[in-house]
Amino acid sequence: MTLRMIQVGLGMHGFGVAKAFVAQSPDFKFAGVAEINPDRLNACAEELGVAAANRYTDYNEAFRSCEADAVFVTAASPYHYAICKAALEQGLHVLVEKPFVVDMAEACELVDLAERQGRVLMVSQNYRYINAVRSLKAAIAEAGKPMFADVQFCYDHFGKDYQQTMPNFMLLEMAVHHIDMVRFLFDANIRNVSGHTWNVEGSMYSGHPNVQARMELENGMPVFYLGSLVSKGLATPWEGEWRIQCEHGSVHLADLGQGYGVYVVDAEQNRRFVPYHEGPLPSGKESIHGVLAEFAASIAGGKAPSTSGRDNLQTLATLFAIGDSSSKGAVVAPASYIATR
Ligand SMILES: NC(=O)c1ccc[n+]([C@@H]2O[C@H](COP(=O)([O-])OP(=O)(O)OC[C@H]3O[C@@H](n4cnc5c(N)ncnc54)[C@H](O)[C@@H]3O)[C@@H](O)[C@H]2O)c1
Repeated sequence: MTLRMIQVGLGMHGFGVAKAFVAQSPDFKFAGVAEINPDRLNACAEELGVAAANRYTDYNEAFRSCEADAVFVTAASPYHYAICKAALEQGLHVLVEKPFVVDMAEACELVDLAERQGRVLMVSQNYRYINAVRSLKAAIAEAGKPMFADVQFCYDHFGKDYQQTMPNFMLLEMAVHHIDMVRFLFDANIRNVSGHTWNVEGSMYSGHPNVQARMELENGMPVFYLGSLVSKGLATPWEGEWRIQCEHGSVHLADLGQGYGVYVVDAEQNRRFVPYHEGPLPSGKESIHGVLAEFAASIAGGKAPSTSGRDNLQTLATLFAIGDSSSKGAVVAPASYIATR
């Protein structure tokens, strides 16, 4: 059965996702689109082939008047909470871009609301659906016990208006991918964090664009993270550069000479390389294709998606814990942020 989707927010990422993923999905068709900027709405809807009657500047009106099954929230991050809440109250299933929301109490409230309404609430943590990330996970599983991980991400980003004023900017907009990857790669939540965030002189951001954190997984394994969105010079790929030290050798997501991908180096210095796109996912299931397929399967079969709102509370809590650790100068436990029924 093809599910009817309303997509809310057709900005740079939202429109790209609509064209390259939602419009191509075998599981969804557009019931409507909502975008607060009317010129943008009409230009994007025209290209997507969405009829004038199904275009809305007010998402509440779209939820009330469109015959739909689900909503994909791709509006700017500070509006995610209000849009998700309205959609769930209307009885719609919800897929929301990362970051889920920008406040922990609101995240917990939405998880409870979705469960009360019996609706799927999923967060699009699309990096889990990248072949290189799947191959990295498989390589770690074969390299013996993981002992520590070291992750770096650096980029010089020109922030959107909403990003320039967003508290915890780097953590919520970018580190959210890497911290969620940590949880996925090691099948573990993060027990405590010690972090530091900071700004630079002349920065366009009021929320800190730099973060450094030491995280401890539930099994005690340490993860060291450095992320920056104000780093001129050599940029790392979006997924970052990773070294996972394992008992029998090291596993890397990096470019160690053959291009960016997964490298496994054993104790005798033998190297194995897995190119970026090689992995278990066929191209039609990579990235947001995979997210949409899992969302549809969950709506159809009832099994909670792997990146459900409830699962994402752990990722989000870790981000807030790092921010608070920085301001308080203390070690903080992410679990202390999660208060659902
Ligand atoms: N998963 C990824 O890899 C990835 C990449 C980029 C962005 N994102 C996320 O996608 C979201 C959108 O990012 P973007 O780059 O498109 O931002 P953007 O600023 O380019 O676009 C945001 C859009 O939301 C619209 N909007 C704001 N309030 C609205 C409302 N009440 N109703 C309808 N539309 C509204 C704006 O008019 C704008 O067109 C953000 O949450 C961002 O973090 C995810």
